[in-house]
Amino acid sequence: MSSHVVRDAANGRKPVTLFTLQEMHRASIPISMLTCYDASFTEAMDAAGVDCILVGDSLGMVVQGQASTLPVSLQDMVYHTQCVARRCAAAWLISDLPFGSYGESVAQAVHSASELMKAGAKMVKIEGGGWTAPVVRALTERGIPICAHLGLTPQSVHALGGFRIQGRTDQQAALLIEHARELYEAGATMLVLELMPTAIAAQVRQAVPGIITIGIGAGNATSGQVLVMHDMLGVTCGRVPKFVRNFLADGGSVQGAFKLYADSVREGSFPDPQVHGY
Ligand code: KIV
Repeated sequence: MSSHVVRDAANGRKPVTLFTLQEMHRASIPISMLTCYDASFTEAMDAAGVDCILVGDSLGMVVQGQASTLPVSLQDMVYHTQCVARRCAAAWLISDLPFGSYGESVAQAVHSASELMKAGAKMVKIEGGGWTAPVVRALTERGIPICAHLGLTPQSVHALGGFRIQGRTDQQAALLIEHARELYEAGATMLVLELMPTAIAAQVRQAVPGIITIGIGAGNATSGQVLVMHDMLGVTCGRVPKFVRNFLADGGSVQGAFKLYADSVREGSFPDPQVHGY
């Protein structure tokens, strides 16, 4: 496929850059992000105006049918990042470093992140705080933009005692803020905040105003929102979390659902903290 055909698929909109996202964050224009794992859904998302696409290791659960994200390999992530990158003309493309691909050494993390960038990612996401700060510093020094991820970090699901709400105690909230600050100082430009009370996500944003915060189950005080595509299309097997809205029901079609999501995030009507918040 030639590059102009790919660009047309995104309705001719200009590619979203890190600069675009930082400007949106500074101007308090909410940023929309969805997970995606293949070419066809990417094209529909791109045409619908979604700002960022995340090739999440959630693919382990929604694509591969695993019980957690832990079995996902670096090869899996490279393959799905390539599939998405081929049709992603405008959205900012982020890819997850999977479990076991960055914890051994900084050298291992640099190697793994480089593979994702070669596959077409523009930014790499890494879970956890504290020990990850030196890894984030090494990656950003090598020109790899970093999205950090705090709160419920699914790769640590067993250590956290399950998929539970984070930041509920003063001690947990203080640690979240400390980790967010360290990650920002190490060079992370974006931070996913997963499954925490709206008030705690608001505190993180206030304490570290320079970092772009993207919430999932974290209320409406973040700079943007992310959902797992299968959840917002209503095709998830099993229990659907409270913070999810089925956009296919109101959007009428897959592309309609993506557009409704992007518009709802942009205009601030999703999430409604009364309905989707903690
Ligand atoms: O893997 C993933 O899809 C994620 C999102 C839930 C943020 O990390």
